[in-house]
Amino acid sequence: MKTFLNLLDDFEKLTTQIWSNLESSAGEPDQPWSLAQFASMSKQGPELRTLVLRRCEPESRTLTWHTDLRSPKCQQILDDCRTSVLFWDPVERVQLTLRGTSVVRSIGPRVDQAWEQSKLISRRAYLGNLTPGTKQEQMCVNFPEEFADRPPSESESEDGKTNFGVITTRIQEMDLVILRQTGNVRAKFYWKADESGEGSWEASWVCP
Ligand SMILES: Cc1cc2nc3c(=O)[nH]c(=O)nc-3n(C[C@H](O)[C@H](O)[C@H](O)COP(=O)(O)O)c2cc1C
Repeated sequence: MKTFLNLLDDFEKLTTQIWSNLESSAGEPDQPWSLAQFASMSKQGPELRTLVLRRCEPESRTLTWHTDLRSPKCQQILDDCRTSVLFWDPVERVQLTLRGTSVVRSIGPRVDQAWEQSKLISRRAYLGNLTPGTKQEQMCVNFPEEFADRPPSESESEDGKTNFGVITTRIQEMDLVILRQTGNVRAKFYWKADESGEGSWEASWVCP
């Protein structure tokens, strides 16, 4: 991930770098921003979990995640599309918190493409009979035992597709905190759209 430290005098460059860093982190397990803490609203209050960032499309301000459609977060998003996402880079010492509205998709070209691109070993996660979070008498991995030592074949994996879905999050607000020896700094970015749908990021410094 590229540093933000030499861009602090220019909000436009800072904004571009945020999206560029997200884009280069998506699907790259070695990048700290490839994992995020994703928050949705449940009836009990906010709920957090770790998700892998699969795709970032700066043009549409959209982040993409893969999910089991039966997992509670999907119903939570259907009930309340407001979500928040947090990234932390311990090397660059930068925190990025995003707010946006999320959509869950179970069918369509985005889902088909994501499924096609998913690894066979990852598809195991969608082959369980039980809903994620179901209480069990014993420890369980929730996929057929035969796939403990080998990935499913292409055809064996296809049963999982009905449980596979895509969450997309369109970002409206960004909060960037950069830790520095000389003092931490923090910037806020709000997406401002006009009636035609065109928009731009409005940025300002805030106290850290
Ligand atoms: C490192 C890591 C990566 C994960 N990636 C995903 C992911 O990409 N998609 C997903 O649905 N769950 C992922 N999980 C599991 C979720 O954190 C969560 O436990 C699961 O999705 C159930 O969430 P829910 O009960 O809040 O719906 C990941 C967990 C860890 C520890």
